[in-house]
Amino acid sequence: MRDVTGAGFVARCWSAGDGLYKERWLCNDQAMKKNSRNRLTPRQVSLFPGDGLFDKIARAVCRAGTLPRKELHEAWEVARRVRRRYRGGRVVDMACGHGLLAHIMLILDDRSESAVAVDTKVPSNAPILSEALVACWPRLKNRIVYTESPLQEITVLPDDIIVSVHACGALTDAIIDKAIEQHARVAVLPCCHDLKVSPTDGLDGWMDKTLAVDTIRAVRLGSKGYRVVTQKIPDDITPKNRLLMGEYTGHNVNGSGS
Ligand SMILES: C[S@@+](CC[C@H](N)C(=O)[O-])C[C@H]1O[C@@H](n2cnc3c(N)ncnc32)[C@H](O)[C@@H]1O
Repeated sequence: MRDVTGAGFVARCWSAGDGLYKERWLCNDQAMKKNSRNRLTPRQVSLFPGDGLFDKIARAVCRAGTLPRKELHEAWEVARRVRRRYRGGRVVDMACGHGLLAHIMLILDDRSESAVAVDTKVPSNAPILSEALVACWPRLKNRIVYTESPLQEITVLPDDIIVSVHACGALTDAIIDKAIEQHARVAVLPCCHDLKVSPTDGLDGWMDKTLAVDTIRAVRLGSKGYRVVTQKIPDDITPKNRLLMGEYTGHNVNGSGS
């Protein structure tokens, strides 16, 4: 018998002890995993019963029925770490997919008046997700704009916060470059690494090639006058979990002006 919540199964089991058939809850492990690529749908609302902000966002995402579970956790974990450090400013969610990150960034800090969610191909059901979130947070109405464009063509402003989850390969480098041009704050969770394009600067003899690429990205930000912060989001959500954040201070890592 399938459970209506979609979170697991209710099975009829023979109980040897008292000779009765009993109903037993069998948890569907995959449904509970944070790295699940299964789409959250209204049937999973009951997996998130809490009063906290994460559960409230998760229920809205379930009602929209548009996103894999892992994308919910990725966007949440990135947004809350970024917001602990960087407040206010226009949010620019680069390679945004459905744009959940842009929405959570505004939910977490109302001092950011607006967000732009940029992708070359915004998924056709992205507005459904946005409407579900705006229904829960009406103050977001008309403050998040989807822009279908290559991110290379977006004008970044110095007060912006540039964020991006899993921009593929060298797209992450292009995002960092856009931020550096304007000394804007930046936070990226890199995805797959294109080792033909993104430099390792010879560090791959000592460390994993992809770590070398991300290390060079961090060092580059530092050399351009950024105070760099490196963190990880939990690896039970994604193995591509290195979060690189930077805020321009005008001093390079050696302390001299830049
Ligand atoms: C792996 S998906 C990540 C989507 C979303 N940030 C997420 O975490 O689910 C990469 C996205 O980059 C977009 N993309 C690829 N090239 C792009 C470009 N030049 N400018 C903007 N977006 C681009 C793709 O359309 C795709 O939606």
